[in-house]
Amino acid sequence: MVLASGTGSLFASILEHASRPDASFTVVGAVVDRDCAAVGIADAAGIPVIRCRLKDHPDRAAWDAALAADVANMSPEWVVTAGFMKILGPAFLNRFGGTIVNSHPALLPAFPGAHGVADALAYGVKITGTTVHLVDDGVDTGPILAQRIVEVRPDDTEASLHERIKIVERALLPEVVDALAARGVVTDGRKAHLK
Ligand code: GAR
Repeated sequence: MVLASGTGSLFASILEHASRPDASFTVVGAVVDRDCAAVGIADAAGIPVIRCRLKDHPDRAAWDAALAADVANMSPEWVVTAGFMKILGPAFLNRFGGTIVNSHPALLPAFPGAHGVADALAYGVKITGTTVHLVDDGVDTGPILAQRIVEVRPDDTEASLHERIKIVERALLPEVVDALAARGVVTDGRKAHLK
């Protein structure tokens, strides 16, 4: 199942992959934390979608517990955060830790957090990219599963660079989810390797 907050283009790429005859996974549902384009994408694909908004809960811990319950009802093997812009809390991590996959728009451990593209651009790096990793209790600190490079152009804006990174993310994230579903992952301390 997929957690999303944004324009949903990563979510759409996962759905597109799942529709292929040779795909190793299906998408059992989506949960969003706000009204966003992912809802329409899920509806169009006939995928169940649940809204779990922070403002509908008394505090963050209650929201986190509700999110965990919503996801548990879908009984997913893997939870994919595709542009989900909230940090997952202890209740969620206790329940799904080790089975949560995130796509981040930078080459971790460089430029973690919500502004990975802008931070890389401001630093002046010439190469950035995308990282698919398992989620742990830090911010973008979990074991890395796969990375791809994207070159920074001298005239790049945050928007132009992010769009080129997202093109790569839309190919890499479904590929990694497919490998996880088909063959799984081996973890060795803080390292992880796709089988
Ligand atoms: C992607 O670049 C993803 O890596 C990023 O949001 C974008 C979502 O695009 N996620 C984060 O920055 C999470 N910290 P989308 O809404 O078009 O799928």
